[in-house]
Amino acid sequence: MTEDIEQILFTPKQIAGRVAELGGQITRDYAGHPPLLVGTLKGSFLFLADLARAVGLPATFDFVSVSSYGCGTCSSGAVLLRKDLDEPPEGKDILVVEDIVDSGRTLSYLAGKLKEGGAASVRVCTFLDKPARRAVPFAADYVGFTVPDAFVVGYGMDYNERYRNLPFVGVLSSRVYAPAETV
Ligand code: IMP
Repeated sequence: MTEDIEQILFTPKQIAGRVAELGGQITRDYAGHPPLLVGTLKGSFLFLADLARAVGLPATFDFVSVSSYGCGTCSSGAVLLRKDLDEPPEGKDILVVEDIVDSGRTLSYLAGKLKEGGAASVRVCTFLDKPARRAVPFAADYVGFTVPDAFVVGYGMDYNERYRNLPFVGVLSSRVYAPAETV
């Protein structure tokens, strides 16, 4: 698997350090009103698992599955809700936990839907932010790391469902998703 990685961006140690910082910040910001942490499947599963243990509050948890990627590394533009919350968002302080914000379509759709559903507050914590690729205006409230315009995998993030279990974040080699033409 690691032979497909062009460059390591964040090591397990760097990730752990940053997640601890985010957890501390969230613990302070939500003191007295613990949030419902909403993980976006599947990409945020490792980030949410680590962040959950860094938040020192009696938080609760739910999951949604929203997709804006039609194929491989290209965005289809359409957002599809595959799995909704188990309980309505009404009156809840919701903190959406996302793996990466790219075009911004997924999160602007999801945040809008949660607000329309009557959530008391909606904030977003994304592990990675790729602002160079924004197609719709969207700013997350908490950002782990900002990354350049490259396709990254690992720590929950995939290419065609692979590489999610890499313990680091790396840039996927372009020969994996755009192999050279063979003659
Ligand atoms: P957006 O709606 O374009 O912001 O897309 C967000 C979703 O696209 C993320 O939750 C990821 O599932 C996926 N995505 C965007 N960029 C990457 C990447 O570099 N690697 C892996 N998945 C990505």
